[in-house]
Amino acid sequence: MSKPYYITTPIYYVNGVPHIGHIYTTTLTDCQTLYQRFKGVDAFMLTGCDEHGMKVQTTAENNGVTPQQWCDQVAEKFKQCFTEFGLTNYNRFIRTSDEDHIKAAQNIWSILDKNGYIYKARYEGWYNVSDECFVTDTNLKDGVNKKGEACKVTIDGDVPCVWHSEENYMFKLTAFKDKLLEFYEQNPSVIVPSFRQQEIIQFLQTGLQDLSISRSKAKIHWGIEVPNDADHTMYVWIDALTNYLTGAGWPAENKLWPADVHVIGKDIIRFHCVYWPAFLMGAGIELPKKFFVHGWWVAADNRKIGKSLGNASSPQEMAQKFGLDALRYYMLSEATPESDCQISDDLVVVKSNADLANALGNLLNRCVMSKILPDQIVPKHEIIDKLIKNEAEIGPFETQLKDLVANVNKLFGLVDASMENLRTKDSLLAIMAVVYQINSLLQVSEPWKLIKSSTEQHSLIMYTAIEAMRIVGTLLLPFLPIKAPVILRQLGIPESDWKINAKILTFGYLQQGVPIGTEKGILFQRIEMEKVEPVKPEPKPKKEPKEKKEKKPKAENAEAVQVKAEPEKQE
Ligand code: MSP
Repeated sequence: MSKPYYITTPIYYVNGVPHIGHIYTTTLTDCQTLYQRFKGVDAFMLTGCDEHGMKVQTTAENNGVTPQQWCDQVAEKFKQCFTEFGLTNYNRFIRTSDEDHIKAAQNIWSILDKNGYIYKARYEGWYNVSDECFVTDTNLKDGVNKKGEACKVTIDGDVPCVWHSEENYMFKLTAFKDKLLEFYEQNPSVIVPSFRQQEIIQFLQTGLQDLSISRSKAKIHWGIEVPNDADHTMYVWIDALTNYLTGAGWPAENKLWPADVHVIGKDIIRFHCVYWPAFLMGAGIELPKKFFVHGWWVAADNRKIGKSLGNASSPQEMAQKFGLDALRYYMLSEATPESDCQISDDLVVVKSNADLANALGNLLNRCVMSKILPDQIVPKHEIIDKLIKNEAEIGPFETQLKDLVANVNKLFGLVDASMENLRTKDSLLAIMAVVYQINSLLQVSEPWKLIKSSTEQHSLIMYTAIEAMRIVGTLLLPFLPIKAPVILRQLGIPESDWKINAKILTFGYLQQGVPIGTEKGILFQRIEMEKVEPVKPEPKPKKEPKEKKEKKPKAENAEAVQVKAEPEKQE
């Protein structure tokens, strides 16, 4: 028996409120989970929170609560937010403070240790306490700390650093260089998009350093204890990445692993595509099948949407103004893993009005309104059978009809191929192309006039429109989980046929002569621009805004740090 499809989001830090980045990653993962489930695949979706580390420890202290209490509050906020956004299809919301996760993280550590990939070393250098990482000399300049005393500060951000020396556990990342390169050579499409795979290959060829994987417990007590050494806690990334194994039930059972896809943002690619496969190789565990790496959401002025939201509405505000499915549609139809993507009230409004209210909504209305479909049944006629069988001589609209049927019959294949790589934009482009084609068939054939002149042609056109719309509505189920069911209900399609497979999505599956749905109503309201309140203007920036740097893996910053002790264990 094949294992369930296993898909994951990153686990989210608990030091902020959920923002558009978190909503998008979870939405995309939710969409793929639903897509698989509508295909009949048993899909397991994992999401959750990344809870350990210095920042959480300090934030909790500053708020007068324990780290556990702090994490409980924020994890709850994430869950509530996902519920508000209808993102409720995950199977588990994992938290790194969960008991089974702590055991899994300690277990993988012990295996890596047993296999000789962990050693102890003295680390010495300038330490960025805020980001919990050592900083190389080249990334430092002279500056002052909060008390005004002279000290080294980071070049980016002027963060004061302190000279720090401590004994840490190291992971022999360098031992995996060749194996990782070989893995990426043998699996050329494991990272989507492919240019990201090239970036990782280049990094592997030039940039590998062993990785510090523990911190002294005296400094960071809010972490998972290193097995057999109560003085150390695990560095957050070995703890965090292992969540994917915990979610799979590892080590007790292994019914989900390997993951079919890890969905991640571009800023955490090295952690996922270098460290994680190395940890897994070191522990003798199979590697994930795919990494899908998306870009960032930026405001209409191309600046990353800041926490202050001075340059954009919050996703919650947008959802309230435009509706959940309109926002979801915008994100899934605009984002491509190749680049960053803009989002703003105006952009969502324009897209929603054009695609959803005008094209899709009007089309549905035309398919079911009694003025155009007086009998309120799916038309029945021999000439429809001729079209389904692709026979000739079906009247004046033969070319348009046959083109449309051909495209409708190709649609599932196209959508399925793009969803293989989570390319929702391509899927929605293909679906919308058919919507526009159905609309233009109606425009050309004017079935509202055919009622009087030709029952045969009226039946033919209306069956085609309704049938094509059924296929469109079915394929839209994972993308518009609230509105696609409305389409199908208005057409009268029984829930037993809300499935994504070749049989159901072949033109002609819809029975002739059955009643259409009794449910009526407008699918998407047009959004009037003037009713949308303008976004508050951003306070004047102090200096020219620069693009936010992608998160640097912490080990990279630690390049120049001297590793003084000899490895305790040899390879
Ligand atoms: N905790 C780590 C992940 C550990 S996974 C084992 C983390 N958390 S995060 O909360 O900072 O980010 C989670 C995800 O949100 C990342 O994939 C990140 O790229 C994504 N986004 C954060 N801001 C974003 C945008 N503005 N746009 C799109 N996604 C971005 O990193």
